[in-house]
Amino acid sequence: MALYAIGDLHLHFQSELKAPGQLHDRVWKKHEEKFKKNCAQMLTDEDTLVLVGDHSWGKNLAQCEEDLQYICDLPGRKILTRGNHDMFWDAKKTGQLNERYQPQLAFLQDNYETYRDYALVGTKGFTFEGPFYVDRRGRIAGWDEAAEEHAKKLVDRELKRLRKSFELAKEDGYRKFIMFLHYPPTNILEERSGFTDMAEEYGAEQVIYAHCHGESRFHDSIQGEYRGRQYHLVSGDFLRWKPWKVMD
Ligand SMILES: [Fe+2]
Ligand SMILES: [Fe+2]
Repeated sequence: MALYAIGDLHLHFQSELKAPGQLHDRVWKKHEEKFKKNCAQMLTDEDTLVLVGDHSWGKNLAQCEEDLQYICDLPGRKILTRGNHDMFWDAKKTGQLNERYQPQLAFLQDNYETYRDYALVGTKGFTFEGPFYVDRRGRIAGWDEAAEEHAKKLVDRELKRLRKSFELAKEDGYRKFIMFLHYPPTNILEERSGFTDMAEEYGAEQVIYAHCHGESRFHDSIQGEYRGRQYHLVSGDFLRWKPWKVMD
């Protein structure tokens, strides 16, 4: 029995694929076949797989049914968190998705799941990457205040959702946590954020995130130990479609 994670499957069985990287980069060629094969080799039905957002390019649930069916057909228990491209998933209607897809899929939002004596908590998150202007020495030379204001609102909303997930688990007696985000927990300057602070506040042992695609983005945020927690990037192209083992 083991817990695995991966993100950014970006499936498109019923929707049009427009992302240039996914169309042309070799790592994405027939990636759904590679991933399915890797899962069949690595996972059993005793295992749990957390899919950390950006599941599908579909614009609504009707356009995502085959993508979600593909996920249903993977081995083990599947837990999904929201990504920025998951248009089919209205956060406020997570209950309906859970009703429709139980027991095959669990949608993690304003709730929590468990693995052994751990609570699995999470939300989409949000990373504000600017638009700030950096000079040649990497110092911030300017800032778009309106964009920053908007980003703050998104971050606050996501932090509230994340806190709810932690609190519900805590009320039920859980003291050990693994935290899942879709967005990286920090901006590219790898500065402390509300998300790293919350991981520390509740003592999450690991923070797992995705969203970063392509060599040039793989080091956009923390990897490894930071202030007592372990941080891991699990975007599918980074992992070359092999689910990453979080723990046995
Ligand atoms: Fe993505
Ligand atoms: Fe994303």
